[in-house]
Amino acid sequence: MMKFADNSCSKTVSYIGEADGKETPEDVSSLLDRLALIPFDFSIDDSGSSAQEHGACCSKNVMRKQRHWEKIVVAKKSKRRQEKERRKAKQSGDVSGGTDAQHSKKFLKALTKKRLLEAKDSGPKLCIDLSMTDHMSKKEISRLAAQIGRLYGSNKKAAKPFWLYLTGLVENSLLYDECVRMNDGFVHYLVESTEDHFLDLFPLEMIIYLTPDSDLVLQDINPTKVYVLGGLVDESVQKKVTYQKAKDHGLHTARLPIQEYMVKKDNVKNYHSEILAINQVFDILRTYCETRSWPEALRAGVSPGKGFVLQDEITLEN
Ligand SMILES: C[S@@+](CC[C@H](N)C(=O)[O-])C[C@H]1O[C@@H](n2cnc3c(N)ncnc32)[C@H](O)[C@@H]1O
Repeated sequence: MMKFADNSCSKTVSYIGEADGKETPEDVSSLLDRLALIPFDFSIDDSGSSAQEHGACCSKNVMRKQRHWEKIVVAKKSKRRQEKERRKAKQSGDVSGGTDAQHSKKFLKALTKKRLLEAKDSGPKLCIDLSMTDHMSKKEISRLAAQIGRLYGSNKKAAKPFWLYLTGLVENSLLYDECVRMNDGFVHYLVESTEDHFLDLFPLEMIIYLTPDSDLVLQDINPTKVYVLGGLVDESVQKKVTYQKAKDHGLHTARLPIQEYMVKKDNVKNYHSEILAINQVFDILRTYCETRSWPEALRAGVSPGKGFVLQDEITLEN
């Protein structure tokens, strides 16, 4: 309770809830409104000059306090208005920004879906042969699942995506479960996923098994062929598994043209390997389709850790 009083003027005005000095703007407005309504009696008792002076002094005090409150109210109102405008501006900015972002996100998603589905009819075909999980440890299977996710992610970003086949993928197998666990939305991937073996899906003459051990070099990518990658992560390097498999079935094979465009680079461990992970092989194929340049493609997929650099890079260094 705050008392706003002047006994000599016979006026006592009480306001509830203001004693803590935390008046809200509403309190202040209400105070001002009430002040406006108070019938201040400024008529001074004529009985004596000192009383007259006292009355004048008191009425001045009241006026001063009123002006003081008026200033506060005006300041608070203007501050409130400014804040409201700022909030409004921010909100309208956010809303339109949000809608744009949502639109473009939806639009991009639809565009990706369209491109992937178009690839089903006219894109190059890539099959991951997942029938060799017996050759791998649990840890290797997990790594293979992660590589499948990366490969799919890369295909989604491609200007010219491949149509992907995951063959020999048995539902509820360890690999399948790992794919679901490690890759968001795996069950909705726009790929052909089947338990069938790739040999039962495509005519043999259509198949080119990519294997690092092939004697033949991949020259180009032909949309009428199916390029098969061995779904293998062989940390304890199992040599020639896919090469042998392809030979056993009389399939065409090819290796990436690493030796043709790259040279070995000295490194501490003297390590040089042409055996890449499936997602790295895919990045090379994808980049080749987009650029028609093997050096560009190899740059995209052969990591420095493999101990190879492009021929022109070594020339630049010397
Ligand atoms: C980690 S590698 C497995 C290597 C394994 N020793 C084998 O017998 O294929 C996974 C797959 O990527 C493909 N790949 C890796 N490096 C390749 C290369 N230099 N050329 C062609 N294909 C390659 C092959 O399809 C291979 O099966």
